[in-house]
Amino acid sequence: MTKITREEHDLFCRYIQELSGIHLDQSKTYLLENRLASMLEEEHCASFTELYHKVKHFGGQTLGQKIIDRVSTNETLFFRDKWPFELLQHKIIPDLIDARRAASSGHFPTQIRIWSAGCSTGQEIYSIAMVLKELLVDLKKYRIQLLGTDLSNTAIACASRGEYNQFEIKRGLPEDRLRKYFTFNGSAWKINDEIRAMVAFKKVNLMAPFHGLSSFDIIFCRNVGVYFDMADRKKLFDNISKVLEKDGYLVIGASESLINVDPRYEPKRYLRSVFYQLK
Ligand SMILES: C[S@@+](CC[C@H](N)C(=O)[O-])C[C@H]1O[C@@H](n2cnc3c(N)ncnc32)[C@H](O)[C@@H]1O
Repeated sequence: MTKITREEHDLFCRYIQELSGIHLDQSKTYLLENRLASMLEEEHCASFTELYHKVKHFGGQTLGQKIIDRVSTNETLFFRDKWPFELLQHKIIPDLIDARRAASSGHFPTQIRIWSAGCSTGQEIYSIAMVLKELLVDLKKYRIQLLGTDLSNTAIACASRGEYNQFEIKRGLPEDRLRKYFTFNGSAWKINDEIRAMVAFKKVNLMAPFHGLSSFDIIFCRNVGVYFDMADRKKLFDNISKVLEKDGYLVIGASESLINVDPRYEPKRYLRSVFYQLK
């Protein structure tokens, strides 16, 4: 296999970070080499330097996208960590409904807008949709908007299909929810039309200004900032603050904290879980 040199590693790292925020330090050399190896052949390049110049100067968005699709970590699962979905069910949604009803004197359908930012292949936002379906029973009384976005075209295409193999299904999805919300089509489990129709998917780069996004009552941005350096993490949560309602809720990953990232967010506890609100 063609080896990537230190200089080539640095060139690609800078390029990938500019495009996506994803920060790959020297410890990720093997990952980079491994994931980009097949592109050398596909793009008829004899070295990583040649590939870099092709991508940078002639590749346009297509090759840049291909690189992001290869290097992004799309690891995800249904009901990942469990607590964020319990938090949603027992605290966030009930509090939000009370607040919205009080503000509108109960006259209008209650609006609930939720964004899974960096949704990967969709398991997170579909888990949220299942919780809402079970909690709210009569969905017609609510105006629900669920959005899943990612930078990876491949991930978004997968999420949009809503089909999962046995391995993906086994990761986090309880048996009763599998029976209730999925149908086996001979090769994969497909999410049912009602849950699928609750969710929209879109490509959004979290490092760029968010054009055309409304504001959200609840944002899940979990296990995305962990791949960024501190400057880009600050930029990410600053971007998010611009589309989070003043009394909105932000949920981040189990290993993440905003304490040294953005002091405008206040951590709040509910049982064993933490969420953030703007001060
Ligand atoms: C590890 S997955 C997390 C998926 C899900 N949120 C979860 O916690 O299970 C991280 C996702 O962030 C996406 N991502 C990375 N950089 C991004 C960026 N600049 N804009 C949008 N998505 C990005 C990746 O493509 C990947 O699908």
